[in-house]
Amino acid sequence: MNKSILLIAFVLFAAYANAQTCGTNASSVSGTCLCNQGYYGTSAAQGQTCTQCPTGTTTAAPSTTSNTMAGADVSACTQCSANYQMTAVAAAAAAPAPAAAATCVACPNNSGNTGATVVGDLSQCNICKAGYYQTTAASTGVASACQQCPSGTSVAGSTSSTACTSSTTSSKMLFASLAILITSLLA
Ligand SMILES: *[C@@H]1O[C@H](CO)[C@@H](O)[C@H](O)[C@H]1NC(C)=O
Ligand SMILES: *[C@@H]1O[C@H](CO)[C@@H](O)[C@H](O)[C@H]1NC(C)=O
Repeated sequence: MNKSILLIAFVLFAAYANAQTCGTNASSVSGTCLCNQGYYGTSAAQGQTCTQCPTGTTTAAPSTTSNTMAGADVSACTQCSANYQMTAVAAAAAAPAPAAAATCVACPNNSGNTGATVVGDLSQCNICKAGYYQTTAASTGVASACQQCPSGTSVAGSTSSTACTSSTTSSKMLFASLAILITSLLA
């Protein structure tokens, strides 16, 4: 085989392998090291460490403007994790107040959600956690009312007791499996 082709292949491989090596809790996205979602830092390069957001909070999708940039601090934690309601937005430092993450409160009584990106009342807790089904929908100021499934198995978001026993064939479970498969293929 042509030696120069081999050399080019090696150089490309080396560049690719190098691009994949990032700091702690960081990943290479199109060749750029970014802190993983839920982490922030001024650099995600090899040898650097990204800091985890406070419990119940997370960042927007990783990018050089959301969670990995000069001056990045805890105010990059602008969103609430699944099953948390947002009561206050994140804030940049404004002396004497330090930077603050969004304020996120755990959804009550087995209600939940898929996360929150804006401030809202308890109605942000508008589904039920896995293993529970919804008996009353959330409404202004009130979270979903949730009852434990008889079988103890259901996917998050079930709205009737019959959904408790059909979790393995539900479209949400299929979607989740597909999402995990795609994520693992792209990782
Ligand atoms: C973040 O990095 C630490 C140290 O490598 C590791 O123990 C931890 O599991 C990581 N967190 C996540 C969510 O991957
Ligand atoms: C949770 O459930 C208890 C008992 O039913 C009730 O007293 C309480 O108000 C509920 N909390 C919220 C925030 O809905």
